[in-house]
Amino acid sequence: MDVCVFGAGSLGSLVGGLLADDHDVHLVGREPHVGVVREEGLRLTGAFDRQVYPAASTTPPADPDLALVTVKSFDTPQAARALGAVSPGTAVSLQNGMGNEATLATRLDAPVLAGTCTYGARLSEPGVVECTGVGEVAVGPRTGGHSGPADRVGDVLAAGLATTVAGDMPRRLWGKLAVNAGINAVTALARVPNGAVVDGPASGVATDAAAETAQVAANVGFEIDEAVDRTREVAAATAENTASMHQDIRAGRPTEIDAINGYVVETADRPVPVNTTLTGLVRAWERGQGHR
Ligand code: PAF
Repeated sequence: MDVCVFGAGSLGSLVGGLLADDHDVHLVGREPHVGVVREEGLRLTGAFDRQVYPAASTTPPADPDLALVTVKSFDTPQAARALGAVSPGTAVSLQNGMGNEATLATRLDAPVLAGTCTYGARLSEPGVVECTGVGEVAVGPRTGGHSGPADRVGDVLAAGLATTVAGDMPRRLWGKLAVNAGINAVTALARVPNGAVVDGPASGVATDAAAETAQVAANVGFEIDEAVDRTREVAAATAENTASMHQDIRAGRPTEIDAINGYVVETADRPVPVNTTLTGLVRAWERGQGHR
């Protein structure tokens, strides 16, 4: 199967690397990373110890059977345009935040599936990705239920990743959103690793942000009562990790605030003061950096 990973940063490279022994994987990312992968292959370290040899470039190949989208949520419109031009057979979003599948679907004729991925990854240097935590991928139709494309993609992913084909992706996306709403902005603003929200001064802010997200989810029809416990569990399981938004702020890059806490604020029909505060602070930081 021809698998294009669009957005081969840390997570995309890990996912593509874990599939590369069983499928014809093509990583689409930035230089110098893709150049090193092309010349020397991709080294997987941490939980894995493997050298793999996917194709790699800055533009997508024509007609891939499957496109796995792993770009930051603010780059989804650009991913949709680029993938629309190469007509993948099926596309799957494995991104943080909400709304990515709908954006991809505006430009793709192919089925667009929803996915969540809890593997941890860090690009240690061009051509080398460290797996900082073995997790799970869930994939399924973006409106829920089951479909032939989802079953087939599940088989493809299961070659290298712990995979579940799920009939309740909308609920799972809300569950993941709550975890990200609780951990990402809080650890980014406080410049602390994920473990700092398990207990201590930041934990109440994180669990309140997750609880607000669960209330908004319930209001639009998805019960994620376990959101607060799950946020603590993920923070404990990834205690040493630097969350993606914290990495973005450290590197001076734009963040995914609009698709995470900002989405909660926009979707809420009642006050969500913790998410509103976190969104305002991260957007203020982005403005100071000239990103908005
Ligand atoms: O965005 C991230 O960094 C991850 O989704 C998570 C779960 C917060 C772990 O770091």
